Amino acid sequence: MKHLVDLKDFSLDEVKKILDEAFIIKKNPSLFSENMKGKILATIFFEPSTRTQFSFQTAIYKLGGQNIGFSNSSNSSVSKGENFKDTIKIVSSYADILVIRHPLAGAALAASFFSSCPIINAGDGGHLHPTQTLTDIFTILEEKKTLNGLSIGLCGDLKFSRTINSLVEFLIRFKENEFFLISSENFKISSKIKKEIINSKNKLIETVFLQDVIDKLDVLYMTRMQKERFLKEDLTSFEYVNLSKKMLEFAKKDLIIMHPLPKNKEIDFDVDEDCRAVYFKQALNGVFVRMALINFIVNLSGGFKAVGESCDIICSNKSCITNHEEYLPKLYIKNGEKMYCEYCGELNVKD
Ligand code: CP
Repeated sequence: MKHLVDLKDFSLDEVKKILDEAFIIKKNPSLFSENMKGKILATIFFEPSTRTQFSFQTAIYKLGGQNIGFSNSSNSSVSKGENFKDTIKIVSSYADILVIRHPLAGAALAASFFSSCPIINAGDGGHLHPTQTLTDIFTILEEKKTLNGLSIGLCGDLKFSRTINSLVEFLIRFKENEFFLISSENFKISSKIKKEIINSKNKLIETVFLQDVIDKLDVLYMTRMQKERFLKEDLTSFEYVNLSKKMLEFAKKDLIIMHPLPKNKEIDFDVDEDCRAVYFKQALNGVFVRMALINFIVNLSGGFKAVGESCDIICSNKSCITNHEEYLPKLYIKNGEKMYCEYCGELNVKD
């Protein structure tokens, strides 16, 4: 089985294969209408979703397969106290592929330990969202024809945005991009991801003001404030970094404006009509990309293993699934003296 928990589990060749097929599907979706005949895709969403959930469901139907699942765990036996492990064991025994969204970081990895079918991570807390990244890079390739040599603005809530984490971790595999991190002081990207950008030798520029850098950008990736993940102090200290039509007068003619959606007040309504805004196209691309991903995963044999070492320390991230599901093995990736939780990526200190 091959799971998609983190896009790092996939080689660049594997990602290219999925995206190449997604481009073919976009041109000729009917060629693939029987690919998943007789197959069942389960979607279990413990958190709300419009795009990810519906695009996976659309994808499996367009491939000739069928869908089971829930969009609200209170309609499942989770509401009767069933634990996460048992839920995964049961649903995976009914399905050929299981797509999971969960508010806790590391939930998809934990699910992969108990699942009898491949798991796809559709977002685990503020941690990762790899299928959004596949959709994002498909859109950048479609519009820009390259993933190299771009000036990329990442703007908004960089602290809690899983789409940003996943996208940056993928794009730093390329060498000549410039990352403009645009956020207010309290919503900066994690120091871990920042270090990864620096170590990758890509350029990094941090600013609070979008207007100061908008003229330099090839790609502007906006994000909303992820209020559902805010700590108490964040609720009183947040402000929107806003994109207005006026600001776009200073931007390149071939800028593309992306957003994983849903959007709130960070983009003015009239920006939607600007031909540089590609976020609705980006959301539609999610169907083709997820069709290609389902084909790839279901047809693959191969292996995925947790690579972390077992160690009996408690992860310091309260939003990590290991702090909520007590039976999970505690796994850490060691880097010198540093111990990163395998589930959520948090840096932990060993006593
Ligand atoms: N981009 C994204 O994950 O949207 P949803 O939350 O609507 O799935």
